[in-house]
Amino acid sequence: MPLKITGAVDPELLDLPWSVPLETWPEDTLAALPRGISRHVVRFVRFRGRVLAVKETVGPMAQREFTMLKDLGRMGAPCVVPFAVVDGRRDKDGNELPAALVTEHLQFSLPYRALFSQALRDDTLDRLIDALAVLLVRLHLLGFYWGDVSLSNALFRRDAEAFSAYLVDAETGDIHASLTAGQRNYDIELACTNIIGEMFDLQAAEELDDAVEPLDLGDRIKERYCDLWSTLTGKETFHDNVRYHVAERVKALNELGFDVAELDMTQTSDGSELSIHPKVVDAGHHSRRLLRLTGLDVQENQARRLLNDLDEFRAVTFPDEEETLAAHEWLARNFEPTVRAVPKEFRRKLEPAQVYHEVLDHRWFLAEKRSNITMPEAVASYVKHVLPARPDEAAVLGHAIGTSAEGDPETSTETRSIPAWQLPPTVGRLRD
Ligand SMILES: Nc1ncnc2c1ncn2[C@@H]1O[C@H](COP(=O)(O)OP(=O)(O)OP(=O)(O)O)[C@@H](O)[C@H]1O
Ligand SMILES: [Mg+2]
Repeated sequence: MPLKITGAVDPELLDLPWSVPLETWPEDTLAALPRGISRHVVRFVRFRGRVLAVKETVGPMAQREFTMLKDLGRMGAPCVVPFAVVDGRRDKDGNELPAALVTEHLQFSLPYRALFSQALRDDTLDRLIDALAVLLVRLHLLGFYWGDVSLSNALFRRDAEAFSAYLVDAETGDIHASLTAGQRNYDIELACTNIIGEMFDLQAAEELDDAVEPLDLGDRIKERYCDLWSTLTGKETFHDNVRYHVAERVKALNELGFDVAELDMTQTSDGSELSIHPKVVDAGHHSRRLLRLTGLDVQENQARRLLNDLDEFRAVTFPDEEETLAAHEWLARNFEPTVRAVPKEFRRKLEPAQVYHEVLDHRWFLAEKRSNITMPEAVASYVKHVLPARPDEAAVLGHAIGTSAEGDPETSTETRSIPAWQLPPTVGRLRD
């Protein structure tokens, strides 16, 4: 069989030294980046200004892993991006060489072992395990059974104070419509065993702090996984202050890096029962969805916040209503009156979506002390207690954003980049 490349449509890929075993590829094609332990030969290769990871394996396995990574990527899973499969390799004497799976090197990522050669915070290991638990939950929600969960089969990226984990080795995995509790348990048990093994390896290499107990870390992955799984999929019953509980749960999930795709509320005789369907979504998803539903054109984080409020409003007030109709009601009943309640003299202070966002924060703050705070109450209190202390911003309600913004350093950058303000024709523009 002649050399066959599937996947990438890039003829320059043919110029790589495929007739040489990967182990002996010339130094000048390689990129010296940290790499995890693996059974197969893996090398990083410089290619047209980027770095590719090449793994030698048997043809059908390479093809299978390629397809799996493609499918996972399409579903929005955090994983490395497949680039090509190279098969039919032969050396210059005509002997067969293994096939190669080529993936894009995940920028800024580190294998867990590389993190141990750096100065580490005490809780780094805990944070790595937490990131792996989040990854495992995400994959399980998508119906992916991993079959070989370990720190070595994930890559880690710093993410503010925490880490984000990405799947790198999908060889043993399988995608199902959904997973049974048994399948999930099997993956968790494997994670636990593998992590304990990895910790003993580190201990043997004298890279592990004496105070770390490998068995405890095995327990931690189980614990974190189970907590997260039940937060995401469990049903809860509330007796009062329903809105606050719903918002609290959504906020907790957002902080864990999840977006809430659907909220189901049912009235039961002893309270309201809630179940949440989480979803991992792509960048820009929220602003696009908000624009489609309401005509509001705002920044991603503002859109996420507004949508959370809209979804909560719909779940509580119009559980059976169609999404666009509920959005219309939300604009008319919540958004517009809130923004309009800001007296004229304060309208230079903040841009409307930001005002709404801050009123939501303020309601949250008030709700911690008293239940069932309404939006009109929250906005009245916000206008009285919070807004007067805010410095002016160039954003004027009802107008496109102005040019100079000498304002609050915490918000001015964001305000300057906010696109022109729009309201849907059905609602009409706000007048000042
Ligand atoms: N796209 C990539 N970006 C960054 N690093 C990568 C990438 N692909 C592979 N690696 C590095 O190579 C290592 C080995 O890859 P991988 O786990 O797929 O090999 P393997 O031989 O199948 O592993 P195992 O021994 O678990 O079967 C990873 O731990 C990672 O450090
Ligand atoms: Mg591996």
